[in-house]
Amino acid sequence: MNSFVKTFMVASVCVALAGVIIQEVIERHKAEISQILDENPSLKVASETAQEIFPVFRFLRPIFTYFPSLRKVLSFLQPTPESTPTTGSTSHTTPPTSIKKMKEKLFTPEQLKAYDGKDGNKGPYLAILGRVYNVRKGKKHYGPGGGYEFFSGRDASRAYVSGDFTEAGLIDDVSGLSSTDYIGLDEWVKFYNTDYKYVGKLIGRYYDENGEPTPYYYDTQRWIAQAFAEKENDNQEKKMFPPCNSEWNPETGSRLWCTKRSGGIERDWVGVPRKLFMPGQSKSRCACVKNFGPPSHDPKRINHDRGDLDHPNLQEYPKCVPDQPECYVKLD
Ligand code: HEM
Repeated sequence: MNSFVKTFMVASVCVALAGVIIQEVIERHKAEISQILDENPSLKVASETAQEIFPVFRFLRPIFTYFPSLRKVLSFLQPTPESTPTTGSTSHTTPPTSIKKMKEKLFTPEQLKAYDGKDGNKGPYLAILGRVYNVRKGKKHYGPGGGYEFFSGRDASRAYVSGDFTEAGLIDDVSGLSSTDYIGLDEWVKFYNTDYKYVGKLIGRYYDENGEPTPYYYDTQRWIAQAFAEKENDNQEKKMFPPCNSEWNPETGSRLWCTKRSGGIERDWVGVPRKLFMPGQSKSRCACVKNFGPPSHDPKRINHDRGDLDHPNLQEYPKCVPDQPECYVKLD
């Protein structure tokens, strides 16, 4: 074999080996590469060209892995162990499956601060309940000059539901919020899971330096779960005792009345207005109460034709005719 052929063969083997290695790197680090490409659209063209070329080397892989020494080279390309386990979200904030498979990054607050989308800086990224999202595709909102740029580079969870966009309000503490706010927060997390790319966790209030959920994380999940349970109870109660229609007139006072759609609850009965007291509270609201058939909690009961009228939390309105669907009262 002359020296030219030898050199050609050695060069070909080297190029093919390099191709297999590069292909391997791309396969194993897909998530990080797509993130970099997202942040640098100019690299996208180059990557598309490369994607057309590199699959060729895939066919050569079995040949190379046949040789033990080359298998060793490829084994160096194993992905580094996950820096963090997959998220421990509850059912309310469970991210899509694709997110779970992706390698997560851990950010310190200082690192996240650098992702503000300003010229030369990466991002913008933002965090909510300690979960970090790449919001670059919403740069018009979150980038410099955007209406919501104050959310970038930090976790301002509380402000998503308080609407307090001052420095004092842009904080990650979400204790003591109302049920509606906790449900709102959960909806924001779902929104970012769906509309933006999840990239990792923020070390601090919700995740520790190993990416493990903190006790505060579990507290928050409990508050959110309680809020959903309360909402469910509320829905059940509204179904049983739909709110009355009401209007006020200076001459006749307040008119309370029931219809088959009052309180936004569609039903096949009208009911009669009653004061409904919440356990442990002195305030009451007007409820339309079913006044025929068995009680809601015991639908099979026979010889009972008073519906829910005997419920202990109910009271008649003074001066109202008890079996009429309408009455005039002075509201307290
Ligand atoms: C708690 C109060 C509020 C919060 C936390 C909030 C937050 C946000 C966020 C984060 C976005 C960007 C969503 C995305 O990534 O696509 C957004 C968009 C928007 N917000 Fe708000 N917002 C609030 C109140 C309001 C109010 C009161 C208005 C109107 C008076 C409003 C009008 C809009 C509009 C029009 C957009 C969409 C802009 C577009 O798509 O070009 N927001 N909001």
